[in-house]
Amino acid sequence: MDSFTGPRVAVVIVAAGSGTRLGADLPKAFVDLQGRTLLERSLHAVRGMRHAAEPIVVAPADHLDEARSIAARVMGGEITVVAGGSTRQASVAEGLVVVDPATDVVLVHDAARALAPSSLFDAVVDSVRERGYGVIPGLPVSDTVKRVTDDGEVHETVDRSSLSAVQTPQGFPREQLLTAYALATSDETDDAGLVAAAGFRVDVVPGDAHAFKVTTPWDLRRAEELLRGSAVPRIGAGSDTHAFDPAADLWLAGLHWPGEPGLAGHSDGDVVAHAIVDALLSAAGLGDIGGVFGTGDPRFTGAHGEVFLTEARRLVEEAGFRIGNVAVQLIGNRPKFSPRRREAEETLSEILGAPVSVGATTTDGLGFAGRGEGLTAQATALLLG
Ligand code: CTP
Ligand code: MG
Repeated sequence: MDSFTGPRVAVVIVAAGSGTRLGADLPKAFVDLQGRTLLERSLHAVRGMRHAAEPIVVAPADHLDEARSIAARVMGGEITVVAGGSTRQASVAEGLVVVDPATDVVLVHDAARALAPSSLFDAVVDSVRERGYGVIPGLPVSDTVKRVTDDGEVHETVDRSSLSAVQTPQGFPREQLLTAYALATSDETDDAGLVAAAGFRVDVVPGDAHAFKVTTPWDLRRAEELLRGSAVPRIGAGSDTHAFDPAADLWLAGLHWPGEPGLAGHSDGDVVAHAIVDALLSAAGLGDIGGVFGTGDPRFTGAHGEVFLTEARRLVEEAGFRIGNVAVQLIGNRPKFSPRRREAEETLSEILGAPVSVGATTTDGLGFAGRGEGLTAQATALLLG
């Protein structure tokens, strides 16, 4: 059972190239693509697989710590990261050294194919297991292909019906891939080349257009456009309730309300700010305010809403989102909110860098809010990917 033996699929993600053709000032896998690095996006695809899979990241020797922190953030735990070699093939070989012998299928994936979907990884695993040999995703070649001489003279048209433009992840039974690497004499640009050279059968299975390799600045722009077009907004909900504490000052919606009874709580009890923080964290899938800030953390004793809101904004942006808008409703008898509504909205919008609208209502005398025992706020946040 998986829970005892660990995942039986390993995915070696090669990210050790320099990205000469992209021409960025850092290695390609660490280049930003709409708020997430290429490596991070590749790891997300592994995390989204139906099959439990252990990622192994092969990174440039001077980027191991960065790769480790990206991997830990995405996968939620420690991930094996090793230094790559001077060619792609050498980098894959470094990754294969640390593959768990209990795995039956090993996938090799270019971090540069950052938009390859999880479904493609799963399909490759399924096909390798069904067939018992290697499979690689490929797409039919749609352009007419010419063989040309060095000086550009057209020599012949190549029959494209027998051509396939191949991608990664490429998947193999672990033993076959290790044997192929042990026997390797040539330098190949993909793993299937070595596996076939070692005498094993390899089949092409249907690839995915999203699995194109980010090689040039144009490819990066294409990836950006695709993400922009396909980003699904994420909604989040949060609420907070505190009892009145007449001995405390009232802080609500980021504002100080002199002369009004305050709210009890470990921090300043600002239910509006706290509900918004929970909505933001919920939309980003980052848990809730108690989990992120710790309900008893002495650093937050008496802290104002701005502290939590600023940190929540940082966290959701770090996770690759930007705040679309936030709507929050305050429920209670007092303070009378409408005279300062504008001010509250401006303050909160400024902190979050996105429109925040605040409404208020009473409960017709019903419940704890109606009896004047405390205040509740309910918030909804929309994040854009
Ligand atoms: N790769 C690697 N180690 C190398 C060379 C390449 O791990 N020594 C990885 C790259 O990080 C990339 C994949 O192999 O994810 C495909 O290679 P390519 O697109 O050629 O990337 P780079 O070699 O980084 O780019 P360039 O050839 O433009 O320098
Ligand atoms: Mg290269």
